[in-house]
Amino acid sequence: MTVFKKHVFVCTSGKTCAEQGSEAVCDKLKEKIKEMGLKKSIRINKSGCLGQCGFGPMVVVYPEGNWYCQVSKHDIDEIIEKDLIGDKVVKQLVYIPEKD
Ligand code: FES
Repeated sequence: MTVFKKHVFVCTSGKTCAEQGSEAVCDKLKEKIKEMGLKKSIRINKSGCLGQCGFGPMVVVYPEGNWYCQVSKHDIDEIIEKDLIGDKVVKQLVYIPEKD
């Protein structure tokens, strides 16, 4: 069994991300990864609340721990190209949490 190069979590069942379109984001990510033949190296999973409600859809990419906010279906190609394949952060989507 191989270990995934990237593991992506999309918050789909928390209080707000689902209302902000996260299911569509997750579905599109899964669809594109499958189309591109990357299923063995990149895993897309739905997740519960990531604790950052209101900034969604929230997406986090491991192992780097890149957090993205307000992700839309239109951002998927860029996330795949830059981060999941190119190992670069998609700067305009980076989530910077508010300080407590
Ligand atoms: S609902 Fe998505 S981070 Fe809480």
